[in-house]
Amino acid sequence: MRLLLLGGTEFVGRAVAEAAVGRGWEVTVFHRGRHEAPAGVRTLLGDRTAPGGLAALDEDPGEWDVVVDTWSAAPGAVRDAARLLRGRAGRHVYVSSCSVYEWPRPAGYTEDAPVVDGASPDADLTDYARDKRGGELAAVDAFGADRSVLVRAGLILGPYENVGRLPWWLNRMARGGPVLAPGPRDLPLQYVDVRDLAQWILGTAEQGLSGPYSVVSPQGHATTGELLEACVRATGGPAELRWTPPEVVLEAGIEPWTQLPVWVPPGSDLHDALHSADVSRAVAAGLRCRPVAETVADTWRWLTGIGGTAPQRPDRTSKGLDPAVEAKVLGVARGV
Ligand SMILES: NC(=O)c1ccc[n+]([C@@H]2O[C@H](COP(=O)([O-])OP(=O)(O)OC[C@H]3O[C@@H](n4cnc5c(N)ncnc54)[C@H](OP(=O)(O)O)[C@@H]3O)[C@@H](O)[C@H]2O)c1
Repeated sequence: MRLLLLGGTEFVGRAVAEAAVGRGWEVTVFHRGRHEAPAGVRTLLGDRTAPGGLAALDEDPGEWDVVVDTWSAAPGAVRDAARLLRGRAGRHVYVSSCSVYEWPRPAGYTEDAPVVDGASPDADLTDYARDKRGGELAAVDAFGADRSVLVRAGLILGPYENVGRLPWWLNRMARGGPVLAPGPRDLPLQYVDVRDLAQWILGTAEQGLSGPYSVVSPQGHATTGELLEACVRATGGPAELRWTPPEVVLEAGIEPWTQLPVWVPPGSDLHDALHSADVSRAVAAGLRCRPVAETVADTWRWLTGIGGTAPQRPDRTSKGLDPAVEAKVLGVARGV
């Protein structure tokens, strides 16, 4: 198989590139050259936001079985590349997001749930949900619904994460001492390991699938307890989890999801939306999810290998809890 990745050098795209190289595919990545490309790929350089920025793609004689686009800003970049490539690539896979579903999303929502309106392939940068929906519309406009896959990923974790969720928890555990663990311990989570997502994306291309898919682990694959306990084990055990009721966390003014990454309170709209999707369609299309302990251990190995400071995308807010707030909620002296 011949794969063209628009992107391919940071987190999700990198995992797709590495998985494809691992399958013996011919891989071309198109990016600006600010991040190093994975081993074994051919590189084309250009800036998708600059006039004439697609020249290297335009002039390249390449043809591909599948193009995967990870773009997540104004949808015009998806539109322009997809129009350029529609006659030279068999299938288009757009890495979208569950954020395209309208809010609130009832627990158990499927791909039939309504999506945000007001999005357009030609829109300027708006908000994340509309940018992603605009990217979906751009992909389908150019390739047609039968040649497009819309990968509505939920939370993505794993090595090379550049959003700062699992890296924050791992660094917090490594610092040791009492750790505010937001309860309940058995709260079900949904996320997808970036490498499982990558393998699934390649599988959709091989099987010739199309249409929208919500992609995270089935509910019940992991709980908050399993995730945080895996973090304690991976980092060598200096941390002591202090399970704290969700009401106490919320009363302290702590923001779910961002200040305590991954966690949202049980029974809330947030939990319905972020950890309660029905992913039967992705599972039927081959989604396989590795154990949470493996995701955590491999992410810690990667993070320590780069000195403990995770890369941070400039277009996402930073994550994590102020140690003083944590200590106050736990009623312990800071630094203990
Ligand atoms: N993280 C999550 O939990 C989550 C959840 C749901 C969905 N998603 C979606 O997953 C995707 C994440 O993908 P990723 O960013 O990790 O993919 P990636 O393909 O690994 O990285 C982004 C790529 O874009 C290139 N790039 C950036 N600006 C460019 C420009 N102006 N012109 C050409 N290339 C450019 C970068 O390389 P250079 O810098 O070298 O140009 C890099 O190769 C996003 O679409 C996001 O919306 C994420």
